[in-house]
Amino acid sequence: MPSVLFHPDHRLWLLRGATSAYAIRLAEDDSVRHVHWGAVLTLDQAAELPERVSPAASSFEAEAGVDELAVEGGARFGPPSLLVRFADGTRGVEWRYTGHDIDGGHLRIHLRDRHYPLHVTLNYRMHGDGDVIERWTNVENRGDDAPVTVLRCDSAAWAAPHRPHYRMSHLVGGWNSEFQVRRTDVPVAETVLTSRRGMTSHHANPWLAVDDGTACEDHGEVWSTALAWSGSWRISLHRDPVGRTTWTGGFGHEGLSWSLAPGEALETPVFAGLYTANGFGAASRAWHAHVRAHVLAHPDETRPVLYNSWEATGFDVDEAGQLALAARAASLGVEMFVMDDGWFGGRRSERAGLGDWTPNPDGFPSGLGPLAAEVRRLGMRFGIWVEPEMVNPDSDLYRAHPDWVLHMANRDRTEMRHQLVLNLARPDAAAWTHAWLDRLVAEHAIDFLKWDANRPFTEAGWPGHEDPDRLWIEHTRSVYRIMDRLRADHPGLRIEACSGGGGRADLGILARTDQIWASDNTDPVDRIGIQHGFSQLYPAQVMSAWVTDSPNVATGRRTPLRFRFHVAMAGAPGIGGDLTTWTQEELKESAELVAAYKRIRHVVQHGEQHRLRGDGTLAGVEYVREDEHVVIAWCPTRAFGHTPAPLRLAAVRPDAVYRDLDTGATYPGALLLQSGLPLGLPPGDHASALVRLRRADQV
Ligand code: GLA
Repeated sequence: MPSVLFHPDHRLWLLRGATSAYAIRLAEDDSVRHVHWGAVLTLDQAAELPERVSPAASSFEAEAGVDELAVEGGARFGPPSLLVRFADGTRGVEWRYTGHDIDGGHLRIHLRDRHYPLHVTLNYRMHGDGDVIERWTNVENRGDDAPVTVLRCDSAAWAAPHRPHYRMSHLVGGWNSEFQVRRTDVPVAETVLTSRRGMTSHHANPWLAVDDGTACEDHGEVWSTALAWSGSWRISLHRDPVGRTTWTGGFGHEGLSWSLAPGEALETPVFAGLYTANGFGAASRAWHAHVRAHVLAHPDETRPVLYNSWEATGFDVDEAGQLALAARAASLGVEMFVMDDGWFGGRRSERAGLGDWTPNPDGFPSGLGPLAAEVRRLGMRFGIWVEPEMVNPDSDLYRAHPDWVLHMANRDRTEMRHQLVLNLARPDAAAWTHAWLDRLVAEHAIDFLKWDANRPFTEAGWPGHEDPDRLWIEHTRSVYRIMDRLRADHPGLRIEACSGGGGRADLGILARTDQIWASDNTDPVDRIGIQHGFSQLYPAQVMSAWVTDSPNVATGRRTPLRFRFHVAMAGAPGIGGDLTTWTQEELKESAELVAAYKRIRHVVQHGEQHRLRGDGTLAGVEYVREDEHVVIAWCPTRAFGHTPAPLRLAAVRPDAVYRDLDTGATYPGALLLQSGLPLGLPPGDHASALVRLRRADQV
């Protein structure tokens, strides 16, 4: 069944998802108007839908329907999605529809300005297996003399239907505190979620969900949207006083402009959206399924248990130290050994060496060969940390190419973590960066890069370039291109996205990486909340989580090893502690817990995820794959010494029986749903449980 239909009489398109529909109509003036995003409709039903007009009638409220991509011009006063200025000073667009084409699930609506040679295509794509609509915009200057100034070019604007109330869900945070879910009433105002940092950012993630204030984890209508972009971005949400809520989003932040030369075109990243009637949990599962089916390159591959040396060694990296860690890691069942920062150039602290990507001769007198060989002899794959977009001023690279960094004439070069940002929009800097990465990966058959980026942009100029704001787009595209090329040339290479933890998590980076380091904060108590937020959009399979030392280096909190493991096991775990200081008992318990993870990971990484909430501070996750269920539960603290009630499961069938694969106990599904799974948590804080259940038979 085609997922895009067209009704020529009504000039109406209908996109049909598995459980939802989206309808668009061409207005009389050829503006593309939003008519429906919600429950499934037939084409005939959609044709009956009235255009959404303002309920207020006055000369101040003449605003017409809701645009799919609002421009300046006419009676439009909300946040525009597309802002342009022509060479003669005229602004805005007056639309003329020039046709459409439908190619499977991909609808392109072609428009142009009535007077100027500006052509715009609105793209909608559905994949036929879910409810996600991917949207993006192409603009093209088809003139042959004058440039067009683009002041804003969003990927898409979305609209929620009329409801008595609106609430927004989004993710906020900072370094060490990423992905905190916030749910708040949408004010009657314009609300802007943005990053002006040149990176996705820790502070806001480009995900926004709207509901009417009544949705819960397992019921209620949710309109959820996510921008696939890893540089600066902006989503402007507008709730107007007459009851409409719309939001527009795309790359770049306010104040930037791009000059579109004659013959030049600009394509935006994808801004994807989905509707569900079944709450935030269903929205997350729909995103996870979409990410696996249409974003990740290797969704069926099981992510390895890795070891990362950062918290163990800091910058004190040498061959002997890494070998000692590798030997212990291998004995625990670790499958990938990743050497973090400190292995190259003069990098003995944050202050020097970034940019000089050859092994430090003191730490690695014979290069990386002996370490890589030993790691492989121990049966592990070999990964390495890189930060290709950055440079310390105290480096040979900077001394040779001080003009390769983002900078402006007559302005300081603000250092953060003693480093500057390479302008990878420059073809020479990008080619050099690709070349050293390619060499490094080829020389040592590197299996895994942890690709870090530890500061935002400042003084983001490009002296001598006629359109310097380009770099806000081109830097990110250049990162994408380098990653894509490395992956094409080295098919076995896997990449972890990192920006000081979770500062670069988005659907754009996930299309060329395999996992995301969600936070530098490895405290398991804090991680429960961080992981909860991360799971709103991103699947467990891509969530790197390490077990590190106790007390935790970031928080000073002491937690049991088992609790640390159980929190990390909710994703793709690694070990990041100083294994040379772990006792034999700790090593033995770790080996058992790694083995336990390997028994559940096909369900955690490839199953469906259901977030669970118990009483008090008890929280958990249930993963389901066919007849297998894995429940991981955490109780970080308890009040008054009270025992938490059993944890009610979400995804079992009431008419089936479930057997605990470790204890042999059986539970009727109806009971697991109603009264919950008894967890037998030990008393005290930082208690946790891991339960494997299999559906046994019908009752
Ligand atoms: C960032 C990363 C850390 C570590 C350090 C190394 O902060 O998030 O995991 O790699 O850089 O400098």
